[in-house]
Amino acid sequence: MKRNIRVFVTVGIVGLLANGVLAWQLNAADSKEDPIKEVMKKYHKAPKGTDPICKKAQDGLASKEELKGLVEGYKILAKEKAPKGDAASWKEKTTKLLAASEALQKGAPDAAAQYKEAVNCKACHTAHKPD
Ligand code: HEC
Repeated sequence: MKRNIRVFVTVGIVGLLANGVLAWQLNAADSKEDPIKEVMKKYHKAPKGTDPICKKAQDGLASKEELKGLVEGYKILAKEKAPKGDAASWKEKTTKLLAASEALQKGAPDAAAQYKEAVNCKACHTAHKPD
């Protein structure tokens, strides 16, 4: 009888530990998701056949909500450290993006052109995207 209890307790403890490890790993995976990648996926990329929000914004077709998200996204970029390349260059590019998205939000007349120039995928990826 005593032995049974011990087995029972042991199994219980092992189970708890396993749960703890699992939860810990899940958390680690969450915090490892790169905020820059998140922003890229959310605003610069879209499923096949649909326009990403960055394209809609250039065409003046982004909704108020989408523009609000875009501004938030670029705030995140501006706060993050570039995974590669010069910090000053990253700051300049992300600050321009943020300013352009805020101009879009305000409906400034030259905002679309300003944004088009700022959201230059290749220029930024060449300088700051790790291979
Ligand atoms: C201000 C700089 C900047 C601009 C502008 C930019 N990107 Fe990125 N993008 C990055 C960086 C930095 C990474 C790499 C993130 C990492 O690996 O940590 C990246 C990664 C990506 C990724 C990979 C995400 C992933 O899950 O690995 C995609 C897709 C992407 N960008 C699409 C675009 C597109 C499309 C545009 C243009 C419309 C664009 N980006 C404009 C900085 C930029």
